[in-house]
Amino acid sequence: MSAQRIGVIGSGLIGRSFSMLFASAGYTVVVYDVLPAQLEAAKKDIWLQLNALEGQGLLRGKLSKEQQFESISTTQSIEDCVKGSFFIQECVPEVLDLKRKVWSQVDKLISPDAIMSSSTSALLPSAISEGLVNKNRFIISHPTNPPFYAPATEVVPAPWTDPDVVERTVSLLKEVGQVPVLIKKEVPGFVLNRIQYAIMGECYRLIRDGVVSPSDCDLIMSQGLGVRYAFMGPWETGYLNAEGMYSYRDRYADMILGIQESFGPPERMDGPTLDLIQEDISRVAGPVENIAVRRQWRDKRLIALAKLKQDLDKA
Ligand code: NAI
Repeated sequence: MSAQRIGVIGSGLIGRSFSMLFASAGYTVVVYDVLPAQLEAAKKDIWLQLNALEGQGLLRGKLSKEQQFESISTTQSIEDCVKGSFFIQECVPEVLDLKRKVWSQVDKLISPDAIMSSSTSALLPSAISEGLVNKNRFIISHPTNPPFYAPATEVVPAPWTDPDVVERTVSLLKEVGQVPVLIKKEVPGFVLNRIQYAIMGECYRLIRDGVVSPSDCDLIMSQGLGVRYAFMGPWETGYLNAEGMYSYRDRYADMILGIQESFGPPERMDGPTLDLIQEDISRVAGPVENIAVRRQWRDKRLIALAKLKQDLDKA
């Protein structure tokens, strides 16, 4: 077994990103997919993305884009992908039965000290891995999309995951330039999506109750909270807004609790409130038929912010 080989299963959006990340640190990456056309498309897209990253000054690692590209090969055999790989990153669609099926195939092929890592956004590690012989080698590495511009990656062990799997996964992700965040216990939505959905829930209630329009609610995030959150979370914000946490408590804890107690129960988004959000946001983001234009607008800003953060961290 070569310690330098990583297998990626699934060559869609996330499989491509992980392949590039691993290649950037000098690993040999073997990507497997059930659809040959996807593998073809992935190779082309990876080359375009490596060129774009180089142009943006965001190419990771010390290798040239050509060297990184050459480290990534594709295969239509799961055995080729898995055998001899010390780390397997699974990036197949978010369907529990499919993930279980893929991992049961991998389970029969891996060496017992290899690591089995899933990109799942929301499935619990125990649910995916409970039937596996090597379930103690299973973990989740959930990236934020797009991983090159938003490097936080949630690392979620199952209750039975070996401690060395956690340590080695965290260290591999750091090595490729990601920011791994250990989620100590599995919980639905992990942490990123729980926070995201909590924000969404309160925004929805405020819009439903006529307190703020959808686009103004988005402005509060993009021109207010989000500006700070690009650099620090709510706890450091609180710390800096007072003289540390105890002073923050003395000044604000009662008020915060009172407001939190006024939050309503969750509600499924739908009906007239959703119609209002669709209508108002389409005025800002343009019609759905032209969504690609607004995505380019978004990506341009994400790239510029990633570059700024990189430059500030170097300074
Ligand atoms: P995708 O649909 O772009 O790619 C999935 C790929 O898996 C396709 O190329 C498909 O041909 C392949 N595939 C399907 N069945 C397979 C099998 N049995 N064996 C091998 N390959 C197979 O999906 P995407 O967006 O890359 O998502 C992959 C995983 O990453 C999902 O679990 C998703 O929840 C997670 N994720 C997605 C994010 C996103 O923003 N798209 C962000 C973070 C995680």
